[in-house]
Amino acid sequence: MRIDIITVLPEIFAGSLDQSIMKRAQQKGIVDIHLHQLRDYTANKHRQVDDYAFGGGAGMVLQIEPIWNIIEKLKTERLYDEIIYMSPDGELLNQKIANNLSLLNNIILLCGHYKGVDERVRQYLITKEISIGNYVLSGGELAAAVLSDAVIRLLPGVLNDETSALSDSFQDDLIAPPVYTRPVDFKNMKVPEILLSGHQKNINEWRHNQSIERTLQRRPELIKKNDN
Ligand code: ADE
Repeated sequence: MRIDIITVLPEIFAGSLDQSIMKRAQQKGIVDIHLHQLRDYTANKHRQVDDYAFGGGAGMVLQIEPIWNIIEKLKTERLYDEIIYMSPDGELLNQKIANNLSLLNNIILLCGHYKGVDERVRQYLITKEISIGNYVLSGGELAAAVLSDAVIRLLPGVLNDETSALSDSFQDDLIAPPVYTRPVDFKNMKVPEILLSGHQKNINEWRHNQSIERTLQRRPELIKKNDN
């Protein structure tokens, strides 16, 4: 899979996508991430990519021209399955969206800034808009990093069997069961006996029941969704 990220702050991605699982996925050649500095695509001699909003009001707006230039250039190089704008008013990211995106070959993530982008970018260039939650970040970069992580960990070969994404919370609309590791007894706080029993069938049953109980307590809407 190839992910092209368009941003005025490419530095933000170094910390999140160049570590641990994300780093390994890139080293193994499973994902190819390309960062593009939007300022490289403007004709403005000061490399400015934003301007005042027509009609007035506080805040700057990212201009269409540099965004058009980079997206059109990328589109001449390969076919893109989705061109995604990270925006607080986009579709709320969930596991299903991440699963679907993980099946694609080439995607572009556009990170907004300031007051957002000129509406014509959303009308004519963007195919999908995604939000990572109902709150406003300073820019789309952290959202793009979250989305990339959620998608990349699903790609075949990124996780090994033990950390398989299939047992993640939300993968079957259930929250994952609690987990424990050594010591068995820490200051009289004990690991549930069943997990030490060696009876795999009983353990699996216990885990499943815990998942259902937790989901009912914490995310009842996930279970209700499946009732109809
Ligand atoms: N850009 C700013 N806030 C955002 C959010 N919550 N999700 C996605 N992109 C954003």
